[in-house]
Amino acid sequence: MRYKFLKPNKRVISYNRNQVQQMLIICVLAIFVSLTFLILSQSNNLEYNPNDYIVIRKIERDNKVHLETQGLHFLNCSYLVESCGQNENSEIHYVNLELQTTIKNRVILDDIYQVQGVDVIDGKIFHLTRREKMIFLRDIETLEELENRKLNLDIKESRGISHSYNKNNTLEIYITDGTDKIFILDSDLLLKQIIKVQFNNGSSVQSLSEIEFANEVLYASTDLYPIILAINLTDGYVKNYYDFSQLIDFSLDKVISSFVCGIAYKQEDDLFWISGKNWPFFWEVELN
Ligand SMILES: *[C@@H]1O[C@H](CO)[C@@H](O)[C@H](O)[C@H]1NC(C)=O
Ligand SMILES: *[C@@H]1O[C@H](CO)[C@@H](O)[C@H](O)[C@H]1NC(C)=O
Ligand SMILES: *[C@@H]1O[C@H](CO)[C@@H](O)[C@H](O)[C@H]1NC(C)=O
Ligand SMILES: *[C@@H]1O[C@H](CO)[C@@H](O)[C@H](O)[C@H]1NC(C)=O
Repeated sequence: MRYKFLKPNKRVISYNRNQVQQMLIICVLAIFVSLTFLILSQSNNLEYNPNDYIVIRKIERDNKVHLETQGLHFLNCSYLVESCGQNENSEIHYVNLELQTTIKNRVILDDIYQVQGVDVIDGKIFHLTRREKMIFLRDIETLEELENRKLNLDIKESRGISHSYNKNNTLEIYITDGTDKIFILDSDLLLKQIIKVQFNNGSSVQSLSEIEFANEVLYASTDLYPIILAINLTDGYVKNYYDFSQLIDFSLDKVISSFVCGIAYKQEDDLFWISGKNWPFFWEVELN
């Protein structure tokens, strides 16, 4: 049997069976090679680089008070706002960086509350408390309470808080609850969306805690490992994660957390300050 092909000039050319088979084999090989390249280039994207950060410096803390850090945020280049403690000793305060990390404006919370993440939104301090799922708003100069509300959300507990303005310049508030979810709220604290976070191999992420939004990415700690995840909120995938196990000094006499509890973005230098429960220092790092 012979196969006939029409050329544009309508001249009929014909190939025998062997030639057609050869052409088919070449086509199949070409498809195979392109698919292999495609898969390989995708699996390159799948790789994370946990050491892709630079340690800039270690900042020793003046730690005359207990420092069970739960949340951390830069107010401006010389002040941090920090939440600390468990039930019965929760507090929120400023850390003055011009005065050797001196603690200022200590506000002690009611015994029933365990303070969690802290953020500055539209000129006010916002912080959460863990089991009661409360959100407190405070004056940015004095830290005096302005308002408190119970979050009307079906969450396990309230842990981390951060925010950004979307392309529409609309405020989005992010909250974690110690699961794999990010809750996105509007300025009235009403739920708009829930993002389920996963690694790009499909494995789920656990125990999301302290969060900080910077450079279009949500950075999140977990209370299982000394890592920070960089999450793309558009698709819910972890873009990369950073492993800080080398930065935890277990030789200290204090009981310190083996995970990150404070993530603060310093816009002026495009750097992050990280800390943990009872860490007597902050680490300044550049995340790539
Ligand atoms: C930073 O914020 C604190 C607290 O609101 C304020 O007292 C201080 O003057 C501010 N510093 C700068 C450099 O803006
Ligand atoms: C942008 O904001 C306006 C009102 O401020 C709203 O009507 C509109 O739906 C928003 N668009 C998106 C995509 O969020
Ligand atoms: C998926 O990726 C994460 C992060 O690299 C890893 O911890 C996890 O074990 C992976 N899961 C599977 C099923 O390979
Ligand atoms: C987040 O994911 C979306 C959709 O996959 C992509 O278009 C965007 O560039 C990503 N953003 C970042 C900061 O990686």
